[in-house]
Amino acid sequence: MLIPSYLVNEKFDDRYFDVVNALDEAQQIYFRNNNLIERITVGLKSKTPFIIGETGFGAGRVVVSLMEFMKNSGLKNVSIEYNSVEMYPMGPERMLNILNGFKERVGAEIDALLEAYKSIDITVGGWHSMKIQQSFGEIHLNIWIGEALEMVKVLEKPCDVWFLDGHSPKKNPSIWRPELLMAIGEKTKSGGTCATFTVAGAVKNALVEAGFTLKKHEGCGGKKQVLQGIKC
Ligand SMILES: C[S@@+](CC[C@H](N)C(=O)[O-])C[C@H]1O[C@@H](n2cnc3c(N)ncnc32)[C@H](O)[C@@H]1O
Repeated sequence: MLIPSYLVNEKFDDRYFDVVNALDEAQQIYFRNNNLIERITVGLKSKTPFIIGETGFGAGRVVVSLMEFMKNSGLKNVSIEYNSVEMYPMGPERMLNILNGFKERVGAEIDALLEAYKSIDITVGGWHSMKIQQSFGEIHLNIWIGEALEMVKVLEKPCDVWFLDGHSPKKNPSIWRPELLMAIGEKTKSGGTCATFTVAGAVKNALVEAGFTLKKHEGCGGKKQVLQGIKC
């Protein structure tokens, strides 16, 4: 299949995500494999926001997919703090172009993300915060424009879960380097988790060094197996 050029991140010569299964893939790898609904339900009782970290904001497909997943969960009054990072932020026009293929399924969620994203100045480094109100509750979206390790270091609170969604380790080893994964381990709550689409040996080793016990799950789309890490 010929991949349209706007779907490829020219900095890494790798596409942002699998265009056919991207929403379902995110829901399986990042949400279901991490028991997100059950864990968010526990947090609801104690009125504590659920804290997510993500490496690689890209076109925001994961956060759009999360909005759909939460809407379908039927939960209400949910508060999610979503911390992501992007070294090469794209403009809203390109974001819309990339997400447009999912308009029929998640049009309202894409509009909500774009409205928030248009309000920030992506030429300025550091934190940019947005609030996205949805029927299930709200997402406080914080995007750090800059390098992933900088973001992890300045994160004030440890995360319940990390979505590791950089490009493939072959194309972009920087986002899988042991120093960064170690810092992510340090910014994960005890009993917290991480998940990723790659099962590359170097990534597995670095995650184990960072304090995660690894579990393989069945993949989705083109991926036979995917990974979850559980922090002791
Ligand atoms: C596979 S894409 C992420 C896809 C995204 N999660 C989505 O759903 O649209 C990986 C992203 O990580 C960014 N990136 C790569 N290396 C980085 C680094 N060291 N620090 C911060 N961002 C990085 C890339 O520019 C790219 O946008």
